Amino acid sequence: MKDLNQEIALITGGASGIGLSIGKRLAEAGMKVALADIEVPVLEEATAELKELGLEVMAVHCDVSDMNSVEEMKNQVEETFGTPKIICLNAGIGFGAPISEATISDWEWVIGVNLWGVINGMHTFLPALREMNEGHILITASIAGHISVPNLGPYSATKFAAVSIAETLRQELLSENSEVGVSCLCPGFVSTNIWTSERNRPETLLNKSSDDFSEEELLQREAFMEWMSSNAKDPSEVAELVYQAITDNRFWIFTDDQHLNGMKSRHSSIVNGDELPWPAPPLIDL
Ligand SMILES: NC(=O)c1ccc[n+]([C@@H]2O[C@H](COP(=O)([O-])OP(=O)(O)OC[C@H]3O[C@@H](n4cnc5c(N)ncnc54)[C@H](O)[C@@H]3O)[C@@H](O)[C@H]2O)c1
Repeated sequence: MKDLNQEIALITGGASGIGLSIGKRLAEAGMKVALADIEVPVLEEATAELKELGLEVMAVHCDVSDMNSVEEMKNQVEETFGTPKIICLNAGIGFGAPISEATISDWEWVIGVNLWGVINGMHTFLPALREMNEGHILITASIAGHISVPNLGPYSATKFAAVSIAETLRQELLSENSEVGVSCLCPGFVSTNIWTSERNRPETLLNKSSDDFSEEELLQREAFMEWMSSNAKDPSEVAELVYQAITDNRFWIFTDDQHLNGMKSRHSSIVNGDELPWPAPPLIDL
């Protein structure tokens, strides 16, 4: 979609990190931007800050894992701004644990937000875009939607699914000659609040042992956070890539090439029928 001025955008997970930066970038391009999120105080603060910059934004509470909440959010956006043409299905939570230790609550939480969030959003907003034959859907997947590594099984499962949904949707829209664009955002490491995702875990899906880290795990986490502070991308850089991809109607958005070798060795093991690359290529060298 070339001209975004005065058009309406909806961004889930818009209170923080990548979603907030995308919201700011699109509002700077002259769009009216609805930021939807489950974390209300943070959402309201973020929205107030953007308004102070003279940007046209609104805050709307939404739990993307709940279809009723997504429909209610759509009604509020339509009443205030009108029908959105850019839909960014971005809300997500990070979760790490070996598959053997993940509880059913862990799976339900991560699948609820990262996968049902995408499905609910698409089901709610796609019909109007197809009807208008205009607009763009961005699905935030991850590099973890292309490579499988130990301790990220449930998260990766949702992101592989998100990549597949985005690819399929793109092909289906092309096959009906639709002007509706699709992009699949696959970030590497970005400096956001994803590492404290537990803050948004519903009471009903709590895993009481998820904060019990061994000393070794705590040290690993510390080293990881240190690596992140100097190596992770700033979300504003990701937002710029997203803006360019939407205006150029480009499908893939990768934020760096750090994981290309991991993707290549996975693909060649599939094509050649070889054993999985082992040990799995580390996501980062700590
Ligand atoms: N940060 C990274 O390194 C990275 C890498 C790859 C992919 N991603 C993906 O980017 C997306 C954005 O994450 P981020 O890194 O900006 O993290 P973040 O925690 O800063 O932002 C995520 C936002 O989603 C919201 N959210 C959580 N549960 C929700 C729910 N049920 N309903 C509505 N909103 C909810 C949070 O409140 C938060 O504002 C996620 O889909 C994540 O998986 C992030």
